Amino acid sequence: MVINPFKPTLGATPPALVGREAVLDEFRFALRNGPGTHERVSVVTGPRGIGKTTLLNAVEDLAAEEGWVFFSETATTGFVNRLIAQAMKELAGFSSSRRVSGAGVQVMGTGVNVQFESQPGMAQLELRSVLTELLDHIDERDKKFGQHTGLLITLDELHHLQRKEVIDLATAVQHLVRENRNISLVMAGIPSSVVPLLANEDGNNPITFLRRANRVVLGIVSDSYVRVGLEKPVTDAGYRWEGPALDSAVNACAGYPFLIQLVGQYSFANASDGVVTASSAESGIETARRKIGQLVHEPALADLSDTDRTFLIAMSQDDGPSAIRDIAERLHVSPQYANTYRKRLIEAEMIESTERGFVDFTLPYIREYLREHYAQHVFFDTDGESDA
Ligand SMILES: Nc1ncnc2c1ncn2[C@@H]1O[C@H](COP(=O)(O)OP(=O)(O)O)[C@@H](O)[C@H]1O
Ligand SMILES: [Mg+2]
Repeated sequence: MVINPFKPTLGATPPALVGREAVLDEFRFALRNGPGTHERVSVVTGPRGIGKTTLLNAVEDLAAEEGWVFFSETATTGFVNRLIAQAMKELAGFSSSRRVSGAGVQVMGTGVNVQFESQPGMAQLELRSVLTELLDHIDERDKKFGQHTGLLITLDELHHLQRKEVIDLATAVQHLVRENRNISLVMAGIPSSVVPLLANEDGNNPITFLRRANRVVLGIVSDSYVRVGLEKPVTDAGYRWEGPALDSAVNACAGYPFLIQLVGQYSFANASDGVVTASSAESGIETARRKIGQLVHEPALADLSDTDRTFLIAMSQDDGPSAIRDIAERLHVSPQYANTYRKRLIEAEMIESTERGFVDFTLPYIREYLREHYAQHVFFDTDGESDA
């Protein structure tokens, strides 16, 4: 039996990573270009399923190719301590005179004594000192081998609820950047988690540092990339697409990376005699749409406030871009009021401006999802005309 090559799982590296060459080139450039390069500190945002985790993995691969040390973390409670532990372990590998002992993690024999168990606020200093020491070793090694490497930290699922630890990490990295060390920090999260974190508030220094970081807004990829993403894994598996089947599959993905994997997976699963036919693709697309509703639309809508959700429901009455004027009328609010929703939803990357005064959905099929699941919401003026 041929194994289905597609990987429709969040965080799983796809069989063909497509459409991210430009941004990966930027990161490669940043790693090579030396300390102070702006892209070395980056914040990646985008909706679920757009490929943030996949991109972080690819950046780590790049770093590894360039001979860099990298640490990969998720921004859940305790990540700063976990980073310290990773750094200690790495340090231990650099010098046999430094010994890492058990859970207390103490560096022995050089007068360096790192304790990071509890004291809040201390974590930041500990992190900074252990990273400094690690970077010293990396520099030493680079000198010896005539190379230029460094340390990359990736932090996934960036979230404003972890603000304290993020500040600890940002503070340490900010210092290291100022000291011209070879450090790179690439973070990723959904806009609704990241935007509040970076919001201008109390003039906090490390937060300002992150706000000025390179911003990568990950979006959809073009159809020609989608085609490669769908076709290559199938061909590599010894299968093939019927021409029209591939055309409709490409269309159905709407440039959305998660859909490449879902449509690919279910179309492939329905193939007969190694051929993905029009009917295999058709039922594959249908299953993929259902799945994307459960895996992306439902949680994305759950992140929003009731009022923001209502705005989207009102939009879903239109077959294409919605006029803000119409939405305001449907919601019985002033256009100014509707505009504050509009701004917030654009910031959350749920909608985008098309032409002046018009907005459209960012996520493919969310219109259909809203119609299907929120049809009980009845607005008085479905045609956008006032009945007054
Ligand atoms: N550039 C890409 N090309 C093809 N498939 C991709 C690409 N980026 C992500 N994917 C696939 O899309 C799905 C979601 O990717 P993931 O990185 O988990 O998204 P996010 O972290 O933004 O939620 C995964 O199944 C992954 O394999
Ligand atoms: Mg992810």
